[in-house]
Amino acid sequence: MSINVAIDGPAGAGKSTIAKKLAKDLDYIYVDTGAMYRALAYFLIKKGMENSSEEQVSEIISQAQVSIQYENNQQQVYLNGENVTAYLRTEEVGNMASKTSAYKAVRAHLLALQQELAQSNNVIMDGRDIGTCVLPHADYKIYLTASVETRAKRRFDELVEKGETPDYDKIAKDIEERDYRDMHREIAPLKKAEDAHLVDSSNLSIEEVVQAIKDIMK
Ligand code: DC
Repeated sequence: MSINVAIDGPAGAGKSTIAKKLAKDLDYIYVDTGAMYRALAYFLIKKGMENSSEEQVSEIISQAQVSIQYENNQQQVYLNGENVTAYLRTEEVGNMASKTSAYKAVRAHLLALQQELAQSNNVIMDGRDIGTCVLPHADYKIYLTASVETRAKRRFDELVEKGETPDYDKIAKDIEERDYRDMHREIAPLKKAEDAHLVDSSNLSIEEVVQAIKDIMK
């Protein structure tokens, strides 16, 4: 039986950094489900469907084949056979993913892929609905959060590091709007599973968060 660890939480709480580190330490695979939603969003942007209705998106989504491979332990996301990993972490793609991930057909399109990965591997899987919907029987569930200010500051620093000149207020506003959308959508909204452990990373280092989760897994 494979061991499944679900990590859910809002954008920018540090889920991917923590999940990657944990996966490396424990020799599990890291499954970034946000990247799958981003791949579908990227597909829709490429098709010029930023302002399309749910119905139009639902119709076309079957043309987007998303799959995952691991290269040097790094998750690579393929869209219709093309490795699109490098194009997924932009604000534009993230905002589109937040919008379109509310659609039933979009979620249904990715569910089986996520569940299959967890069935055949020890996984640390991060997302919004992993503990509540995708892996309701996960061995360990973590709800990782941090204040909006902390998350906006982290994102701001990340962009500065990349040589960009970001606007802090815009980042904070985007985060708030994304939280609202992710938490208030009808299907699979972001919320803490009843049996999830709450970890607030606002005042913790990466190492401290990783250790807190390892302690939970003891
Ligand atoms: O974690 P992320 O920022 O890469 O996710 C991008 C968007 O995808 C996020 O705003 C909500 C959506 N998402 C989701 O609905 N369910 C998941 N399991 C993962 C991400």
